[in-house]
Amino acid sequence: MIYPLPMAAPDTYLVGASDRRLARFENLFPIPRGVSYNSYLILDEQTVLLDTVDNAAAPDFFDRLECALDGRTLDYAIVHHMEPDHCAALADLVRRWPNVQLICTAKAKQMLGHFFCTGLDQQVRTVNEGETLCTGRHTLHFVTAPMVHWPEVMVSYDSFTKTLFSADAFGTFGALDGSIFADELDFEHVWLPDARRYYTNIVGKYGTPVQALLKKASALDIQTICPLHGPVWRKDLGWFIEKYDRWSRWQPEGTHAAVFYASMYGNTAAAAQLIAQQISAHGVGPVPVYDISTSDISELTSEVMRCSHIVLACPTYNGSLYPKMRDLLSDLKELGAQGRTWALVENGSWAPTAARLMRAELESMKDMTVLEPVLTLHSTLQNPSDAIALADAVAESMKP
Ligand code: FEO
Repeated sequence: MIYPLPMAAPDTYLVGASDRRLARFENLFPIPRGVSYNSYLILDEQTVLLDTVDNAAAPDFFDRLECALDGRTLDYAIVHHMEPDHCAALADLVRRWPNVQLICTAKAKQMLGHFFCTGLDQQVRTVNEGETLCTGRHTLHFVTAPMVHWPEVMVSYDSFTKTLFSADAFGTFGALDGSIFADELDFEHVWLPDARRYYTNIVGKYGTPVQALLKKASALDIQTICPLHGPVWRKDLGWFIEKYDRWSRWQPEGTHAAVFYASMYGNTAAAAQLIAQQISAHGVGPVPVYDISTSDISELTSEVMRCSHIVLACPTYNGSLYPKMRDLLSDLKELGAQGRTWALVENGSWAPTAARLMRAELESMKDMTVLEPVLTLHSTLQNPSDAIALADAVAESMKP
């Protein structure tokens, strides 16, 4: 038997489940640490479920839910977000508890009709900003959060327990460990890279809507945050909210540099390595080096979110950019990356074009600065002093 996990708030339970077998979230982003699909249950005078789970986690979820309900019926299911990692189990839920009332935004009701052809939308109560649901002791206040991460999204604030059920906001990749609370994990060292990667790639494009949600949340007395992925926050909420505030404005997490290279035969890689060493020699902190052919693009975009300065080193390929670099720059543009400082290295054995093309891509984004000098390699780095000059320019621009 799988038991629900009691939370900090009285009579509120986590009944979601983790998936350690899925290779890629959205069939796109690698999740070697797995992912959790959080669903919460409030056992008040009436019973309220907040979201369901992905189909892969449905057996665990229903075991926990039935165990927690202990024979009681389910009165309400709140649908904060219609992405199937949270709503896939809804049809089965309604089959098991046919009298449950679904509560969601009008946009979500429309999506329910599209995702499920079983008439689920017929038992929906739609709610607007500021409406409430009182279930006895608890009162849930509905707060719309369009485009965090889809247009139908809302979050709920339980004024009895001062808990924000935050949908995708404040979520992270990573299956839940023995504890469900962030303060009982080494979040900063073990979880933060995945939280940043989740934010950048899932929500990163929607910084303005996230800012709008943060503004609404700042008016609430929040003591617990219950996201749809990852651990529950009941301490140091300000620390994580500050990260979200920073990420949603595309502000780097300090003055940090990284070097991204593409290299077919190792010559561009050798120049990139020398540049990283020379930047680091200025005492500006670690300068990680990434081979963009072997690094997942979600890790690279996440590093751009963290860093203030990035060196791009790229061969010319078919008279254009090396495909992985083209993909990275395209992804960054789509995610709304902005406000970073770049240094460019191109390689071309007969007609180098990569620097011009990288510069054009970067300058089509907001507030990007490209440092001089740009380094051009003709097959190999003939003059190490050229790479050192570029690295010195990066380090100089990192000074306050
Ligand atoms: Fe976790 Fe946008 O779904």
